[in-house]
Amino acid sequence: MKVYFNGKYEELDNVKVSPYDRGFLYADGVYEVIRTYNGKFFRFADHMERLIYSLNSLRIIYDDVNQIENVLNQLKNENDYFSEATAYIQITRGSYFPRKHSFPEKNVNPTIFISVNPLIENRIENETGIKVILEKDIRWKRCDIKSVSLLPSVLANQHAKEESAGEAVWVNNGYLLEGSHTNFFGIKNEKLWTAPLSNSILSGVTRKVILELCEKINIAYLEEAINENDIKNFDEFFISGTTTEIKPVIQIDQLKISDDKPGKITKKLQSAFYDLVNN
Ligand code: PDD
Repeated sequence: MKVYFNGKYEELDNVKVSPYDRGFLYADGVYEVIRTYNGKFFRFADHMERLIYSLNSLRIIYDDVNQIENVLNQLKNENDYFSEATAYIQITRGSYFPRKHSFPEKNVNPTIFISVNPLIENRIENETGIKVILEKDIRWKRCDIKSVSLLPSVLANQHAKEESAGEAVWVNNGYLLEGSHTNFFGIKNEKLWTAPLSNSILSGVTRKVILELCEKINIAYLEEAINENDIKNFDEFFISGTTTEIKPVIQIDQLKISDDKPGKITKKLQSAFYDLVNN
């Protein structure tokens, strides 16, 4: 498989990352995940806007963001994928010896890695719905940055898997904020609720699309986080993300939701979403 690494197209097996790379030592880097619909990278501009925001937030200087679209298309062609693809983009502050917490004093080139892989479409859970577990939010206070420092998410997701759940939802001061790798939504009295954008959640591209769809198909919404004591008063829940799309939640911990099946507004949004991405 061909990947893009520091300006070159290389076989994945030939890529060498220095152990002094700050991504390896400190998780000092950012990433993006994008997917195609009908062969085109969906909401590419939104993903690039967020990538630039993440880079700027960490003061990583990478001047070639406008080259990324070409790289993605080139990789897609080089790897000869006929089906849909996902792209992974990671940029770290680069490699510098000796190890030192503060930024390197000399100008160091950032490390960039991009790979494009075939997307294995699995919408079964989007039909049936999933169980999620609640997890105490132990993350840092800049969850608005799409940083590769994902250890809390790794642990929470593993815990979810061990509990036969599809996602772990972070609870911060009693409020359900987002999933370990998804945004989180609830519906009460036909009104959609989702946590407001802040440094406590990631500004999801799919979340943005969903709120646009709410405007389009007249679903009222509120950007307010759901309190854990209020869960029982909600009719429906779902999660969203680039590869997740819109996934209904039919159980939160031990509590069954919407009679164990996807709710009707969730299904309405799902169908509006599929219409949008298929056109
Ligand atoms: N995760 N919240 C968090 C914490 C995320 O990591 C993600 C994305 C989302 C959804 O964002 P979007 O709709 O832009 O994909 C919300 C990616 C896909 C991942 O880590 O693989």
